[in-house]
Amino acid sequence: MSHLITNIGSLVTNSSEGEGLLGEISQAALLIEEGKVAWLGRMADAPEAMQVTDVAGAAVIPGFVDSHAHLVFAGDRALEFEARMSGQKYAAGGIKTTVAATRAATDDQLRANVKRLSDEMLRSGITTFECKSGYGLTVEDELRSIRIAKEFTDEVTLLAAHVVPFEFSDNRWGYVESIIHEMLPAAQGIARWVDVFCDEGAFTSDETGKILFAAKAMGFDVRLHANQLKDGAGVKLAVEFDAASADHCTHLTDEDTDLLAQSKTVVTLLPGAEFSTRSKYPDARKLLDRGITLAIATDCNPGSSYTTSMPFNIAVAVREMHMTPAEAVRAATYGGALALRRSDVGHLSKGANADFVVLDAPSYVHLSYRPGVDVISSVWKSGTERYSKK
Ligand code: NIG
Ligand code: FE
Repeated sequence: MSHLITNIGSLVTNSSEGEGLLGEISQAALLIEEGKVAWLGRMADAPEAMQVTDVAGAAVIPGFVDSHAHLVFAGDRALEFEARMSGQKYAAGGIKTTVAATRAATDDQLRANVKRLSDEMLRSGITTFECKSGYGLTVEDELRSIRIAKEFTDEVTLLAAHVVPFEFSDNRWGYVESIIHEMLPAAQGIARWVDVFCDEGAFTSDETGKILFAAKAMGFDVRLHANQLKDGAGVKLAVEFDAASADHCTHLTDEDTDLLAQSKTVVTLLPGAEFSTRSKYPDARKLLDRGITLAIATDCNPGSSYTTSMPFNIAVAVREMHMTPAEAVRAATYGGALALRRSDVGHLSKGANADFVVLDAPSYVHLSYRPGVDVISSVWKSGTERYSKK
């Protein structure tokens, strides 16, 4: 069945078929066939279709690609947030509170949490998301985390190396060995990605290197939590192991920036994390000016960024990281797809997945210009309307 979306005031394609950074086409239409984009262009040139939807001049953008989220957990850390807003510093150790709650939860409770948060994501315009484990930290709990994540997305990440759990506090290498010899083999065929939190209070450069080496040897693709709390070895290792993405990058040296500029590793910025931990923001301008590809993701997790809203993250990236509204929208769509090494999402061109968002606004600029306002009108995935505000 062919379905024409027409009377699009402004269509963001992220392709060379349109104008400017976002490949915009005005007065546009989009034809869907079998869940894919079959044609797009000026509405006056649109082909006939069996079904027609008129969006009355609204803007349409590709569905957001959230390349970094931690949704498999139980409980929350509202008290920790409250203490932080009264002056306490964020530290990696808070993760252990969520580990205890997650281990105590049933599969159904964890499943319900992922469902609730992924539904929220959809309502914020996210049509593809990555989901990490990392609050189980035993062979059994990490495995059930990735299995539950896999019920909701193909972009599943084993983050067993989130922090060293208390059972191994006197035997860190014992935990690294358990990741390498027990968890990685068991995660094959379930997780696509392996991630390590390489930072102060989490994993050292040596430990990270060993885990990444083993992961790559077993055929996993890798991504990294790098340089969030300090300018350690995270970025260097991400580039050395050809990670699809180095995430956070809040504290970068000039050498880190040079390495990133010469690599194909995407930098994923997580504005919600700096916002919710009241930390300094990374220098997005400097990275963009060096030609480094940026993604913006929610980092949804109960400790450092309890938000599923991509529009919120875009608004913060524009206001606080000095990205232009167009750069931020590109990072939340095309950038996210590159951070997941996906070519079928994050853009609207012939053959791409028909994943898109109809805005309750005439332009993508409203995503950052109207902070805190719900400007998502409807969300479509593989050509089917999955959410509508009306
Ligand atoms: O991306 N940095 C490590 N992991 C999460 C935080 C997890 C937590 O505090 O529970 C992050 O910010
Ligand atoms: Fe994270």
